[in-house]
Amino acid sequence: MESRSDRKVFIHTFGCQMNEYDTAKIRAQLTGDGFASTENAEDADLILLNTCSIRDKAEQKMHSALGEYRRLKRLGQNVRLGIAGCVAQQEGDTLLKRYPEVDMVFGPDGVPAVRKLVDAAFDGKRVLDTEFLGLDDYPFVTAIDPAARGKVGAFVTIQKGCDNRCTFCIVPSTRGAEVSRPSAEILDEVRGLVAVGVKEITLIGQNVNSYGLKVPGEHTFAKLLYAVADVPGVERVRYTTSHPRDMGADVVQAYRDLPQLASYLHLPVQSGSDRILGRMKRFYTRDHYLRVVDALRSARPDLVLSTDVIVGFPSETDEDFELTMSLLDEVGFVGTYSFKYSPRPGTPATHRTDTVPDDIAGARLTRYQARQRELSLAWTRAHEGTVVTALVEGWSRHDEGVLCARTSSNLMVNFAGSRELMGREVQVEVTRGFTHSARGELRA
Ligand code: 5AD
Ligand code: SF4
Repeated sequence: MESRSDRKVFIHTFGCQMNEYDTAKIRAQLTGDGFASTENAEDADLILLNTCSIRDKAEQKMHSALGEYRRLKRLGQNVRLGIAGCVAQQEGDTLLKRYPEVDMVFGPDGVPAVRKLVDAAFDGKRVLDTEFLGLDDYPFVTAIDPAARGKVGAFVTIQKGCDNRCTFCIVPSTRGAEVSRPSAEILDEVRGLVAVGVKEITLIGQNVNSYGLKVPGEHTFAKLLYAVADVPGVERVRYTTSHPRDMGADVVQAYRDLPQLASYLHLPVQSGSDRILGRMKRFYTRDHYLRVVDALRSARPDLVLSTDVIVGFPSETDEDFELTMSLLDEVGFVGTYSFKYSPRPGTPATHRTDTVPDDIAGARLTRYQARQRELSLAWTRAHEGTVVTALVEGWSRHDEGVLCARTSSNLMVNFAGSRELMGREVQVEVTRGFTHSARGELRA
């Protein structure tokens, strides 16, 4: 009889860090109990798609991948096929009805129960789990992904879900209400990761700044930063994502006190126009955003910022868009994840009729991205001839013998080096800046 330890799981992950983290937790639970991981779908007994529905494009990507995996099954591969994540949560039963090859559909809250769900699928059942779990005693998965061993950086989730209601965003309906993970558990996971060699921790959540606020006696986000930085062996701390409205003075102070805290912050602004920010229900103004940036930069003068921007939100005029363009220069973002607005099912903005024509939104996006590329390049080039301190993360994807290291400010620098430098802090002279990375030579 086929034993469980002979089974192989292949997971295709789409979307954000939260999904990457969920994938790691799925893998940790399955491989902890006999499944082996495979990088080859054709070799798998279980194929899982961990899906993203933040924009229509993400959903389309998952549908075309699903087509491939369904084909494998139709061609006779003996494999269970599962859809997890945000599209699963959003579409639920529809996916089972539409695709006879699909054996299981479960949302983000199904991750802690994945063992049980997979067992049911192997028992021949068609599995659907899109119930949200209760907010009390939410079962965050503590098992550590075996793939974390030997890695320099790891994500640690500190909360799930989101209580905000930004009018464009589907996350509150796919990931449910915000729940903060107990700080004791977070710190245990951090210690566990350090024990397998991890040096850089990235705390993740949908709105990390509101961490702990709903739980009496729990750490605030700022206190959590101090506690994580205090764990012996943690060399760097990053976090994502922050909401500009909730960036408090105590977090700003942490940039003064904690050298481990990276000099890089991803702070999504979405738009530079107060009128649009109001319609997005972001609850801050351009001026507030700029004041937060000023406060952060007076605490940490070399702080580098990146952001998220949506262009073509319903009713966005040329004037609104120009305000987004001017904010890009005013802050001097080194990077932007910029998107054309994509209407999402069930979100408040979907019902708006004052939509921006696609060609106008497209032209705005092109202009924004071109200016961002200039700023990104100017930033990496400004490092040419200087020596930076960077943590070596691994081999460069493109060149053999070339290592890839990252500065606290998130500059990626590639240089020729040998294996023993892996996980070490090095001094590299930057010789050439490109749009998304730099090239350098090892100095020490
Ligand atoms: N359309 C376009 N971009 C979106 N985002 C979220 N929802 C949408 C949408 N409906 C972007 C926001 C958010 C990032 C994760 O994705 O900029 O910060
Ligand atoms: Fe979506 Fe807004 Fe919550 Fe971010 S803060 S996940 S954009 S609702």
